[in-house]
Amino acid sequence: MSRFFFIFTHMKYKDFAIGIFDSGVGGTSIWSEINLLLPNESTLYLSDSKNAPYGEKSKEEILQLAIKNTEYLLDQQCKIIVVACNTATTNAIRYLRAHYKVPFIGIEPAIKPASFQTKTNTIGILATQGTLNSELFEHTSSKIDKEIRIVEQIGKGLVELIEGGKLYSQEMTTLLQSYLHPMLAQNIDCLVLGCTHYPYLIPQIRSIIGPRIQIIDSGQAVAKQTKKILADTGLVNTGGNKIESSHEFLINSNKDTLVELLKENKLKKQHTIRETDF
Ligand code: DGL
Repeated sequence: MSRFFFIFTHMKYKDFAIGIFDSGVGGTSIWSEINLLLPNESTLYLSDSKNAPYGEKSKEEILQLAIKNTEYLLDQQCKIIVVACNTATTNAIRYLRAHYKVPFIGIEPAIKPASFQTKTNTIGILATQGTLNSELFEHTSSKIDKEIRIVEQIGKGLVELIEGGKLYSQEMTTLLQSYLHPMLAQNIDCLVLGCTHYPYLIPQIRSIIGPRIQIIDSGQAVAKQTKKILADTGLVNTGGNKIESSHEFLINSNKDTLVELLKENKLKKQHTIRETDF
């Protein structure tokens, strides 16, 4: 019996992949957290870099891109979809949940956890324009204790520099300084990273803001929620079927930045990266 035939006939729904998408390479920060927590799961990641950044598009455009990515992942039989993009989550997840049967996990800026931790009653959030202007973000912010001030900053240009492989460039440092210095002047003691690309900037951000300000992102929470929903729906892959997990990355533009980011990834998981249109 050929390996392909064996895999095909022995696969159960539990063995199908977790589908993950983002406007680009940033959602790989979520992919890492999911892998740490769910090592037996296969993943299929869509990097929609051709359409990055999502953050400056209209709500309707973001929704159409989220639908396109979702339908592609569903065609590949993904059992759950992780929207590894704050901009797509805050603009499209309600629609996706209402129109498709598969479970969706989204990511939103962690302003609520930050509001429990702040001592200065001032938290900063760095996110895309699309996230900060979304109804969902407005709704979440309206639930935060009124004593707490939220200093919002749009991270215009950061996603483009990351996608272009300019993580450690002078351009990046200058841009980050221009966003972070005014937040520091307002006495923030927590900085929420509201975009899945930004965890890759933590070393640079840390060197600008110093050691005392807490940096908070939602990556681990998303992985925990993915595990919980898989468990609740009986879809956790426990590895019992003896089919090796696979990790496939599809990108619809040049793959160089994605290759570099995954090379540096501490998990060192075997994976394939393919340039293709979707
Ligand atoms: N990673 C996306 C997010 O979390 C970036 C959005 C963009 O492409 O502007 O919001």
